[in-house]
Amino acid sequence: MDTQPPKISASLMCADLCNVERDVRALEQAGVDWLHFDIMDGRFVPNIALGPDSVRAVRAISDLPLDVHLMVEEPERYLPQFLDAGSDILAIHVEATRHLRRTLQLIREGGARPALCLNPATPLDAIEYAAGLIDMLVIMTVDPGFAGQKLIRSTLPKIAAAREFVRSRGASTTDVVGATRRAAPTGAETTEMEIQVDGNVSFEHAPEMVAQGATVLVAGSSSVFREGLSIEEGVERLRAAVATQER
Ligand code: DX5
Ligand code: ZN
Repeated sequence: MDTQPPKISASLMCADLCNVERDVRALEQAGVDWLHFDIMDGRFVPNIALGPDSVRAVRAISDLPLDVHLMVEEPERYLPQFLDAGSDILAIHVEATRHLRRTLQLIREGGARPALCLNPATPLDAIEYAAGLIDMLVIMTVDPGFAGQKLIRSTLPKIAAAREFVRSRGASTTDVVGATRRAAPTGAETTEMEIQVDGNVSFEHAPEMVAQGATVLVAGSSSVFREGLSIEEGVERLRAAVATQER
């Protein structure tokens, strides 16, 4: 059983874009673990959002780890910009790149942590031959592209299957990207990985996601940026919702 509480990665797409610095300070104050950037190219997903300059701007004002989710076709075309902007974690979609291993290696060589995302309809098998190159697997629990969507419940068993997959490799899912573990050297294969869930991670759904094995929660309009709550209240309620959850 994991003993560490799940990490919270706050989705800045859901921040007040006229007051990003104010929201980043509130997130820091409330003690979130990472900041999540939803990068959308209008091709991989039917929406356009954020870019390398958004990452760079926040890098200049915060020391929190920057968790960058590339919803971008052929993400290899943009890796240099996102690496240079100061991304700590670069997550690409298995559906978006042809040479998965090469792209992941380029991320590691560029000094960031490689992560892989699976759309709701993509089976876990898709990562089998690239798993040794990643520090995090992202299970999308909505079809990517928009905040505020409804959970696709059939994705939940995939979280548990991912944890089983990691355990079958004789590894754990605890704090892989955190301070206790240094980045794997370029070329080395890893066995451990964090499991992130992204999409409608609400106070209501988060406990079940954590029970299935999620170690990082992307917090958007369903929790930390929930209408009617302050950022502080949202973070507090999300933490409380998963505090006693057995994993
Ligand atoms: C969905 C995005 C999510 C989104 C999650 O495409 O990747 O990061 O912001 O937030 P909510 O809670 O609105 O689903
Ligand atoms: Zn995301």
